[in-house]
Amino acid sequence: MASNQQPATSNIFLIGMMGSWKSTVGRKLAKKLRMNFVDTDDAIEEIMSMKVSEIFQEFGEQRFRDMESSYFAEKSKQHGFIFSTGGGIVLDENNRNILQSNGLCFLLEASPKTLAYRIKNTAKRPLLNNTDDTENRLIKIWNERKEFYHFSAHHIVSTEKIQPNAVVEKILNLLKETDENH
Ligand code: S3P
Repeated sequence: MASNQQPATSNIFLIGMMGSWKSTVGRKLAKKLRMNFVDTDDAIEEIMSMKVSEIFQEFGEQRFRDMESSYFAEKSKQHGFIFSTGGGIVLDENNRNILQSNGLCFLLEASPKTLAYRIKNTAKRPLLNNTDDTENRLIKIWNERKEFYHFSAHHIVSTEKIQPNAVVEKILNLLKETDENH
């Protein structure tokens, strides 16, 4: 468990690298806990009526980050949501503060090798488009971001060598422990 102090609010945030199963786990967790579910990439795609890759292509990465941050800042004011976030959400300082203070934040982790193996569809992942060595690219991105991920997370959950349902169980157990400590 990360040593960050845990806030007593009702949102659950899932952060982590591309392929760490934020969306799969988030959806399953929302069903189990009967909470509302938001996938920030899906929400932005819906608002813009464009795919993430098209937004990158048309407007550039920075504009996507701006959209991501303003959507997240607004939506996270509500309570009772599970958020599966885009892998780059932690790049913005305000987002990191929200993750820290507006809910309970779980960092889903797996090795770059495992992440690369899981990522079949790069349509949503323009950052991986121009490389034939996905694993190496992921290592580079992880090294650039790991400090931010660790700053933002209250709990770190490995998704290595287990199935999404087992990850959900791990998170449910951590939530139970958190409840018992409050
Ligand atoms: C990104 C991750 C993607 C998507 C965009 C940028 C990133 O989301 O937001 O391609 O910078 O790591 P997933 O983490 O859901 O793949």
